[in-house]
Amino acid sequence: KVNGLEFAVADLALAAYGRTQIRLAEHEMPGLMALRRDYAAAQPLRGARVAGSLHMTVQTAVLIETLVALGARVRWASCNIFSTQDEAAAAVVVGPDGTVEEPAGTPVFAWKGETLDEYWWCADQVFRFSDGDGPNTIVDDGGDATVLVHRGAAFEAKGEVPEAADDDSEDYVAMLATLARSLREDDRRFTRIAAGMRGVTEETTAGVTRLYRMARDGELLFPAINVNDSVTKSKFDNKYGIRHSLVDGINRATDVMLGGKLAVVCGYGDVGKGAVESLRGQGARVVVTEIDPICALQAAMDGLEVVRLEDVIERADVVITTTGNTGIVLVEDMARMKHQAILGNIGHFDDEIDMAGLARVPGILRTRVKPQVDEWTFPDGHAVIVLSEGRLLNLGNATGHPSFVMSNSFSNQTMAQIELFTKPGEFDRQVYRLPKRLDEKVARLHLDALGVRLTELRPDQAEYIGVDVAGPYKPEHYRY
Ligand code: NAI
Repeated sequence: KVNGLEFAVADLALAAYGRTQIRLAEHEMPGLMALRRDYAAAQPLRGARVAGSLHMTVQTAVLIETLVALGARVRWASCNIFSTQDEAAAAVVVGPDGTVEEPAGTPVFAWKGETLDEYWWCADQVFRFSDGDGPNTIVDDGGDATVLVHRGAAFEAKGEVPEAADDDSEDYVAMLATLARSLREDDRRFTRIAAGMRGVTEETTAGVTRLYRMARDGELLFPAINVNDSVTKSKFDNKYGIRHSLVDGINRATDVMLGGKLAVVCGYGDVGKGAVESLRGQGARVVVTEIDPICALQAAMDGLEVVRLEDVIERADVVITTTGNTGIVLVEDMARMKHQAILGNIGHFDDEIDMAGLARVPGILRTRVKPQVDEWTFPDGHAVIVLSEGRLLNLGNATGHPSFVMSNSFSNQTMAQIELFTKPGEFDRQVYRLPKRLDEKVARLHLDALGVRLTELRPDQAEYIGVDVAGPYKPEHYRY
């Protein structure tokens, strides 16, 4: 705690370096900056206490400072142990007007390379507003903050946190330890936090999957807005963001020539489509795997060979998982890969590649090439290069998506926060999406920067196609 501000970051002295990058990012984030201007007077988030759990990057810094500019108090952690940009975290703590000696910004609890215990400690810190009040909204990415509250409240109801079982993941064990500490300290803490919560706005496919499951099972304790499925989020960030950041991560990690190489992309959803474009742009020969006949057919019509992993694994130079599913590349697959083939995941969680199985291979040797790049040598002498220990490599090995596309995602986040905070009682314990007029507004905010001249719909044309001149221009079922 310095100057009355709590935080835990790698090095506050990096703040100036972070601030310069934030300044450049602001120019590339016209949506967020327009929202700051539009809502400067109204201060719609005054009184909001926002708990954030989302990759602590330069772009996220601009989101945090937008929420603050709209009146919110904010506490922030990253949603991945490797994704923090330490200079961005430092700059947010110091704030635009503070100094390293007297930081005057926002509490951040995040650094690059957390252990899992540290990760859950950081996640817990975002719920500790200094006046003892819990947050009243969550910005989540992947659902960890939401799950922490739900599990915490459930264990409080039972009066105990279960013992970890032998086959529990390290991640789950670390979360249980955090919840056990919380329970000892205050046995109603997360129950009260859940009761005071106006809702959560969720950033990504993986988190949205968790939310719909909780809603289906009647377990959701507060309303949720699915930001991911705004068109201006998943059809842009997941696709064009990945197109930029996948090869960025592979290049920074390995510097390997991708042209001419055989790359396998597992999954041809939004992220998979961006991943394919990214690798094709470098001249790689790309093939995909899919379980969904529609996405498989799309891939085929896009000119890609659709294969099974077992049929290509021995020839692949690069394998990238994008499925949001579990157990995609198993240790027996890795055993068959070419010497020094590259293996990486860009889906949210780290169970797409069987890292636990890899570590258990008798006689396997792990050589750290550099942070977030490991060479795993099998007893037969062949090695695979694994990026970011199987966690999302675009954020572990590079700096994630560029500002412009994140401005779209985060404009949706900001508007979703305003919806939840300013309309208490209007949402049930369900998962909602933002109305299409707001989706169209986000897109509109990004057109000028690209020199787009939008054609104006004439009233007779609007009448002819049955829409309002001011939009929305498409029915809900339209798929873009
Ligand atoms: P999606 O649902 O559009 O695509 C996933 C695809 O994988 C689907 O088409 C599905 O049929 C396919 N799939 C599932 N199991 C499979 C299997 N066993 N083999 C082959 N294909 C399989 O989801 P989206 O939006 O593409 O997201 C994918 C993951 O990426 C999620 O975990 C999401 O949270 C994450 N994500 C990561 C980002 C990043 O910056 N790294 C950005 C956005 C999303």
